[in-house]
Amino acid sequence: MKRILVTGGTGFLGSNLCVRLISEGHAVVCVDNNYTGSLDNVSDIIKSPNFKFIEHDITTPLKLDEHIDQIYNLACPASPPAYQGKMAIQTTKTCIIGGLNMLELAKKNSATILQASTSEIYGDALEHPQSESYRGNVNPIGIRACYDEGKRCAESLFFDYYREEKIDIKVVRIFNTYGPRMNPDDGRVVSNFICQALQSKDITIYGDGSQTRSFCYVDDLIEVIVRMMNSPKEFTGPVNIGNPCEFTVNELAEKVVAKIGSSSKIIYKPLPADDPKQRRPDITLAKEKLCWEPQVMLDEGLDKTIQYFKAVITAF
Ligand SMILES: NC(=O)c1ccc[n+]([C@@H]2O[C@H](COP(=O)([O-])OP(=O)(O)OC[C@H]3O[C@@H](n4cnc5c(N)ncnc54)[C@H](O)[C@@H]3O)[C@@H](O)[C@H]2O)c1
Repeated sequence: MKRILVTGGTGFLGSNLCVRLISEGHAVVCVDNNYTGSLDNVSDIIKSPNFKFIEHDITTPLKLDEHIDQIYNLACPASPPAYQGKMAIQTTKTCIIGGLNMLELAKKNSATILQASTSEIYGDALEHPQSESYRGNVNPIGIRACYDEGKRCAESLFFDYYREEKIDIKVVRIFNTYGPRMNPDDGRVVSNFICQALQSKDITIYGDGSQTRSFCYVDDLIEVIVRMMNSPKEFTGPVNIGNPCEFTVNELAEKVVAKIGSSSKIIYKPLPADDPKQRRPDITLAKEKLCWEPQVMLDEGLDKTIQYFKAVITAF
């Protein structure tokens, strides 16, 4: 049994991770300020004696009574509507000051720390698919920069702590992931389309829908981040993780409407600034070092996610 800290633990990925870690018999300390997360996401495990929730914002240092073996640093709003507007400065602070606070905690505990980085560090990529050696095409002053540059700076901090402080680090670059426990209101494409279709509302596509995305089912993602955390010490990453099957946003919308049998119409709105046109991970490194590749393809993952949102929407 390990003692494991999960920041962002009531969010979409964090709560799925906490459930997995508790099911494996670990002791989990879940830290979150519940900005985009919710205690509902951890309702299945909240009473477990191995689970502890601490409401805390990681931009201030965290003092723990117990020793920690591993830290998954997932805290950060992840959807553009959640990190833009009034939360942009807080998002940069979460990435950088929050990252620093967690690195200091890792140092104090001699813990291994995993950083949830993102495909957004590649920006509007000029190389396709994106491999880890690609350095990206990010607008440093645009409306997505708080997140993209925040995550880039966090990667830089992690590697400086690795070199200067000899901390054990793991950096994963996560590509678009979907599945149960996504927040229905946070404006991500899969949850938006499913919720709109289930409620027979118009399906909103930004741009002409020809932009591509690759969608990874959450169980595949959780499996690989756990493998990464427990991989040999010398493998720090960064490593791309995601599903390399690429779909246009139009294809995704059509699939969702057909699966739900919805009467929703597809409508088009202007593309927001700096929206990437193509996204597909090169996962050669993850296959080689972590013996991992996604098992759940889009049709199966969408069916499971639609089931989840049906239950959430009828509960309201
Ligand atoms: N889901 C994806 O497709 C995806 C893709 C790339 C990267 N990521 C990264 O994975 C991590 C988790 O993403 P997610 O999809 O679960 O998003 P999410 O918004 O559901 O979860 C993030 C969690 O962090 C919490 N949080 C935000 N700021 C905080 C702060 N200052 N202190 C404490 N808690 C804070 C939120 O309340 C939320 O529970 C994020 O770091 C995100 O950047 C996710």
